[in-house]
Amino acid sequence: MKNKIIAGNWKMNKNRAETESFFAELLPLVADTRNTVILCVPFTDLCKAVKSAQGTNIHIGAQNCHWKESGAFTGEIAPSMLVETGVEYVIVGHSERRTYFGETDATVLARTKAALNAGLKPIVCIGETLQERQSGKTEEVLKRQVTEGFADISAEELGRTVVAYEPVWAIGTGVTATDEQANDAIKYVRSVFAEKYGKAVADKLFILYGGSMNDGNAANLLAMSDVDGGLIGGASLVPQKFAAIVHSHR
Ligand code: PGA
Repeated sequence: MKNKIIAGNWKMNKNRAETESFFAELLPLVADTRNTVILCVPFTDLCKAVKSAQGTNIHIGAQNCHWKESGAFTGEIAPSMLVETGVEYVIVGHSERRTYFGETDATVLARTKAALNAGLKPIVCIGETLQERQSGKTEEVLKRQVTEGFADISAEELGRTVVAYEPVWAIGTGVTATDEQANDAIKYVRSVFAEKYGKAVADKLFILYGGSMNDGNAANLLAMSDVDGGLIGGASLVPQKFAAIVHSHR
């Protein structure tokens, strides 16, 4: 059986001092886990997070990167800038980026490709809105996001990529997908990857669930056959809660 990936997404939360105390509390709580633990923090907290996690089992990620190496892109951060900061992972195409910042499948692909070229491991987010689910379009949307968002990603590159299925209606709402809804959607996503890359590659791919996962529902979600881990927003801000999620799969 695969170990799980438990990734936190702090979004736009915590300053440097809070970052330092978070890691001081979290480190001893998760030191003995077999699961892969990742924390994706704001750009300004990256240096502090990388330093705090040095020599531990915790990996650090950013929450976005640009597709160009340098240039006139005010407010953006290049993948190589993250690499030189000691960052290993980067979230790409989170639904908040798609909703508020005009991210499309094409820009998600460009950012993913650039992250991979720089040696980062992208955590690529996909997922349907409530309206899309209610009108029976979940599979159609997921298929489009995978087909277009991974258009020229090779099998080797996919092997360095993590996918997060995050139904938009479950993010930050307190409404979690049921264990079956999460598993069924992830199974479907895996089947779309299998069509293009073959079953062996698709089976190896880590596909996480995200959307109101917490220390109360994580054990059951993580016990589902196709759920390879979690991408956790709100509950990743509190060390004890995040550690409980990490330990909910042993
Ligand atoms: P949530 O966020 O756990 O607060 O719902 C998940 C995410 O957006 O990655």
